[in-house]
Amino acid sequence: MGFPVIRPRRLRDASLVRSMVRETRLSLDQLVYPLFVAEGKNVREPIASMPGQFRLSLDKLLIEAERMATLGVPALMLFGIPAAKDPQGSGAYADDGVVQQAMRALREAKLPLVVIGDVCLCEYTSHGHCGLIADNRIDNDATLDLLARTAVSQARAGADIIAPSDMMDGRVRAIRAALDAAGFVHTPIMSYAVKYASAFYGPFRDAAGSAPAFGDRRTHQMDPANGREALREAALDVEEGADIVMVKPALAYLDVIRAVRERVDVPVAAYAVSGEYAMIEAAAANGWLDRDRMIYECLTAVARAGADVILTYHAPRAAELMAAGDWPPG
Ligand code: PBG
Repeated sequence: MGFPVIRPRRLRDASLVRSMVRETRLSLDQLVYPLFVAEGKNVREPIASMPGQFRLSLDKLLIEAERMATLGVPALMLFGIPAAKDPQGSGAYADDGVVQQAMRALREAKLPLVVIGDVCLCEYTSHGHCGLIADNRIDNDATLDLLARTAVSQARAGADIIAPSDMMDGRVRAIRAALDAAGFVHTPIMSYAVKYASAFYGPFRDAAGSAPAFGDRRTHQMDPANGREALREAALDVEEGADIVMVKPALAYLDVIRAVRERVDVPVAAYAVSGEYAMIEAAAANGWLDRDRMIYECLTAVARAGADVILTYHAPRAAELMAAGDWPPG
């Protein structure tokens, strides 16, 4: 039986029927808003390649966090921009590091927000690499201890979730052991399990000043051509104790999100990264694409692919649209 009895268009005729049969419903509960914390006071420095995003000092961060709580955005991911960097990335695990200070201030403010700490050394090392350098290579095993110290210092400062983004082998196990030994047995790990060596991180590296001074990240981040390897990385991190696994970037890796979703039982997160944000903003600024409809369509695609949690710089705009009942945007 086919046409004319069967007519898929029947369910598309009226807006109320369309929403009744809509398969994917993104909710604000799933979104995480990434923020850049800088040293100093009264700093709200625009990030050129990410229009609408800023490097914020503590005081300004608190104002932005309050705005998120009011909008109903449930979670923040914090990245630190330290005043000084060194070869060991010591700002990452300093008890009074820029992110640790922000976490303490957020905890004191008692806002209804989940605070997630990105754990990596690249924003804190003078060479911009994600680990310690020995003989011009990243020393994987020596880096694990520093990542574990970073995770514990963030948990002490009040992080609700620890999110390692460095892609060193064995870091989830090392971080889990260190958190447990320090008494943080209840602090979940959201691992950037499947993180590709991607050109989509360009604007982030601008924002954080974390572009590697020599070489690139291809010895630890994944080859964009590899899908099967994603399943192996995700399974390994679950085995090492990851509570949530992340795929990153999101939009160019929807097949990977779907495949990981089908392979693991833990929640899957996807990170719509800085370049995905920049593409939408640049096209919208030129009047080439409708910003709000792009935000809806891209975030919905990531959810449809199987992501339970989505990290996106568009979280506040999505929240505004949802609050206005303009979701999907007309
Ligand atoms: C590493 C880290 C990066 C991003 C998140 N964590 C940069 C990188 O791997 O070079 C990128 C996020 C984005 O592009 O929005 N600390």
